[in-house]
Amino acid sequence: MNFTRNIDLFLFLIMLAITHSSSQSTTAGDVITITKAINVAKPGCQSQCGNVTIPYPFGIGPGCFLGEWFEITCNTSFNPPRTQIGRLQLLEFTDYTFRLANKVASQCYDPFGNITEDNPVSTSLGWTSPFSFSQKNQFNLIGCDDFALFLGPLQANFTSGCIALCSKPEEVVNGSCSGVGCCQTSIPKALKYYDTSVGSMTNSNHTKIWSFDPCTYSFLGEKERFTFNGVSDFMDPNFRNRTMASVPMLVDWVVGNLSCSEARSAGMLACQANSECVDSDTGVPGYRCICNNGYQGQPYLEPGCQDINECEDPNNLCDGVCTNTPGNYTCSCQDGYVGDGLKSGRGCTKKNSEFPVIKFSLGKLILIYWPR
Ligand SMILES: *[C@@H]1O[C@H](CO)[C@@H](O)[C@H](O)[C@H]1NC(C)=O
Ligand SMILES: *[C@@H]1O[C@H](CO)[C@@H](O)[C@H](O)[C@H]1NC(C)=O
Ligand SMILES: *[C@@H]1O[C@H](CO)[C@@H](O)[C@H](O)[C@H]1NC(C)=O
Ligand SMILES: *[C@@H]1O[C@H](CO)[C@@H](O)[C@H](O)[C@H]1NC(C)=O
Ligand SMILES: *[C@@H]1O[C@H](CO)[C@@H](O)[C@H](O)[C@H]1NC(C)=O
Ligand SMILES: *[C@@H]1O[C@H](CO)[C@@H](O)[C@H](O)[C@H]1NC(C)=O
Ligand SMILES: *[C@@H]1O[C@H](CO)[C@@H](O)[C@H](O)[C@H]1NC(C)=O
Ligand SMILES: *[C@@H]1O[C@H](CO)[C@@H](O)[C@H](O)[C@H]1NC(C)=O
Ligand SMILES: *[C@@H]1O[C@H](CO)[C@@H](O)[C@H](O)[C@H]1NC(C)=O
Repeated sequence: MNFTRNIDLFLFLIMLAITHSSSQSTTAGDVITITKAINVAKPGCQSQCGNVTIPYPFGIGPGCFLGEWFEITCNTSFNPPRTQIGRLQLLEFTDYTFRLANKVASQCYDPFGNITEDNPVSTSLGWTSPFSFSQKNQFNLIGCDDFALFLGPLQANFTSGCIALCSKPEEVVNGSCSGVGCCQTSIPKALKYYDTSVGSMTNSNHTKIWSFDPCTYSFLGEKERFTFNGVSDFMDPNFRNRTMASVPMLVDWVVGNLSCSEARSAGMLACQANSECVDSDTGVPGYRCICNNGYQGQPYLEPGCQDINECEDPNNLCDGVCTNTPGNYTCSCQDGYVGDGLKSGRGCTKKNSEFPVIKFSLGKLILIYWPR
């Protein structure tokens, strides 16, 4: 092909504002979006409980889950039905985590220092389970005369603690949890059990601060979901219920109790075709299966991950003909057209065109052909 650049023609054509595209796109006008079918149950198994979608390796009923730890029960004595893992209430699954409904420990006093309400809390994910509390959680203590001790992985050992003090409501700053009225602390990796234990720091049992702080609260919960609202939290009789409903606990999960290589040599690897095994990074032994790039679906279930047809995605990079390949796709031009077939490249232009062809890319004129 012989092309002649012509600057005058260039300007002339800009004046005419001709934006002619001769490219042939297989997806022109189509609005097809690829469904991310990652969170699916095993075929033939119940996939929903209430509004919770249950993805394999979790499942309800015999044959529907990967191992004892992944059994889910749907408790229909509640309306809407409650999704349970063991005795814990499950709210949602994400890719490698799930969220649990929270429990908030509380201790309230009367003006004389008598304890009027005492709700201790402990939560166990199971000592040998493949689950652990995500480090995106933290322990929180709300109060003005209080300490809390959080018992960690081994029941007898104190892992962490918090102290929250203040003597006047003016000292407490909204949104700031740094020891005045509110204390936060991060949790160790692989935490599977905790127990909150709260008490009065000064032995005055809230008598000096009771007018603005009658209760102490402590809980483990997702960092991002909790904001301390200062004295208005102390005075909110609904604080405990509100926090349980709005601040879940995030749990990491892995499969098996072996690394990828151990599971492979034991012939127990759960990863199916077109997926990759990744060793656990949660501190709990195990692994995860992840679909290879260009594949999607259920890595734990036969027949494994399925090729994504990128050509059905209007955001693919082809300007010309899109051809799906295993794990990827290629772009080319139709017969009678030349170019690289890419939206961000030269696209496709007609061979031996009678008219000059201009290609615009991001509003910029990038190429002019004057075919002869
Ligand atoms: C499930 O329903 C509850 C209320 O019934 C709602 O608070 C929650 O956001 C819903 N979860 C999802 C994932 O839709
Ligand atoms: C469902 O919830 C009820 C009420 O809390 C409880 O008595 C029952 O044991 C639960 N069922 C299951 C299967 O956990
Ligand atoms: C509360 O404390 C006061 C003073 O110590 C005491 O007289 C009273 O009996 C206590 N009340 C209860 C219900 O324990
Ligand atoms: C827990 O405490 C016991 C002694 O009370 C000690 O032997 C053990 O190493 C501790 N474990 C951890 C994880 O610190
Ligand atoms: C803190 O928030 C409460 C209610 O949200 C408000 O009444 C109070 O004035 C705020 N205090 C400060 C110091 O911003
Ligand atoms: C606070 O409570 C503790 C134990 O319940 C008690 O020994 C102590 O005397 C109380 N202090 C006050 C000031 O009431
Ligand atoms: C908190 O929730 C419980 C159980 O749903 C309920 O019995 C209690 O009245 C609630 N407390 C407040 C202060 O709303
Ligand atoms: C790992 O899991 C298998 C099967 O659930 C069990 O038989 C085995 O005892 C576990 N091993 C360890 C070290 O926990
Ligand atoms: C798909 O092919 C393109 C071009 O050949 C390449 O740049 C890209 O890395 C490939 N993508 C994958 C996921 O293999």
